[in-house]
Amino acid sequence: MSKPLQICSVVGARPQFVKLGPVAAAIQGSNAQHVTVHTGQHYDVNMSKGLFDDLNLPIPQFNLEAGSGSHAEQTATIMTGLESLWIAERPDWVLVYGDTNSTLAASLVASKLQIRVAHVESGLRSFNKAMPEEINRIVADHLSDVLFAPSDEAVSNLSREGLGDRTYLVGDVMIDVCLGALELAKSRPTPELPGGDYLVATLHRPYNTDDPARLAGIIEALAASPIPVLLPAHPRLMAAAQRHGITLRRGSLVVSEPWPYTQLMQAVAAARAVVTDSGGLQKEAYTLGVPCTTVRSETEWIETLGDEWNVLCFEPESIVGRALRKPPTTQRKSYYGNGDAAQRMVDVLLSID
Ligand code: UD1
Repeated sequence: MSKPLQICSVVGARPQFVKLGPVAAAIQGSNAQHVTVHTGQHYDVNMSKGLFDDLNLPIPQFNLEAGSGSHAEQTATIMTGLESLWIAERPDWVLVYGDTNSTLAASLVASKLQIRVAHVESGLRSFNKAMPEEINRIVADHLSDVLFAPSDEAVSNLSREGLGDRTYLVGDVMIDVCLGALELAKSRPTPELPGGDYLVATLHRPYNTDDPARLAGIIEALAASPIPVLLPAHPRLMAAAQRHGITLRRGSLVVSEPWPYTQLMQAVAAARAVVTDSGGLQKEAYTLGVPCTTVRSETEWIETLGDEWNVLCFEPESIVGRALRKPPTTQRKSYYGNGDAAQRMVDVLLSID
């Protein structure tokens, strides 16, 4: 009997834990073996362990405890940890997710050790190299042997870069999770939500948090909203606000620690609108039929911009006005698949010799 296929997932940041769930379940339902490595890029309880509990995720067999640091420090620590691990125990496939420093580190190490790499959520482009994520995803795509694209747009981006022959359009694994989370939420405590209309806001991109004048402008605009703005605050935002002497708890802002994923989906589903600079939340809002205002000048998820289900708004003073626009009434399309992306990815891996 041949040895079962060994698949190693590398995750480290919050959105990757979310994506891990359906992939782990699909691998568990096959005859392949799955090992998970947590790089330790995110380590706060509500950025890491809390999410594993909330989504019933498999506990990673390894934790590299890389923690925070400069890009080079963080990437290098993760690379060194993964290299020793994979020299000792060599998987058949390494699965990397999205566009974080953990993704970059894992794809570099695996490809140099000539271990095959598959990239989940491949082919996204913001065409803005000032974003570390854009650099990470370009490198990961070019080093990977198999590219799992979530959308037609991602497939076109990969073809343009000469990567079409290793690309598989499978849909977006976040859709698998988002739909499941609302179901799972039924067995979780109900979050405390305001009675009437409210906005849900998240901010964590360095270009929104790290420049004091820009962050002050965004916070001031949100605080002046005529309806409450729930702000589950990413640690980068908390740290930046403290560093710049900006008070977050004022006006309409209702600030909290980051929420469990099921709570976030419940809050978004019942919100008037979402304001965010996150990639995932733009799509989750779209999937749940909630208008989104993206505090960025570009997006990788351009399909969501149709009929203004999502709008880009970089000017702080216009954010709330845009967020409170008349909601679209048009049907949304299933650009990102039907919620079976993880199963399709595992089927592809099992079909390759
Ligand atoms: C990372 C990803 C980003 C992703 C985001 C999701 C990169 C380059 N960026 O950004 O693509 O959208 O995760 O959240 O990989 N911190 C804590 N506790 C934690 C984690 C972080 O306090 O558990 C603080 C530290 O001050 C740290 C800062 O947040 O320096 C930023 O964390 P880091 O992982 O470097 O990047 P993110 O902004 O979270």
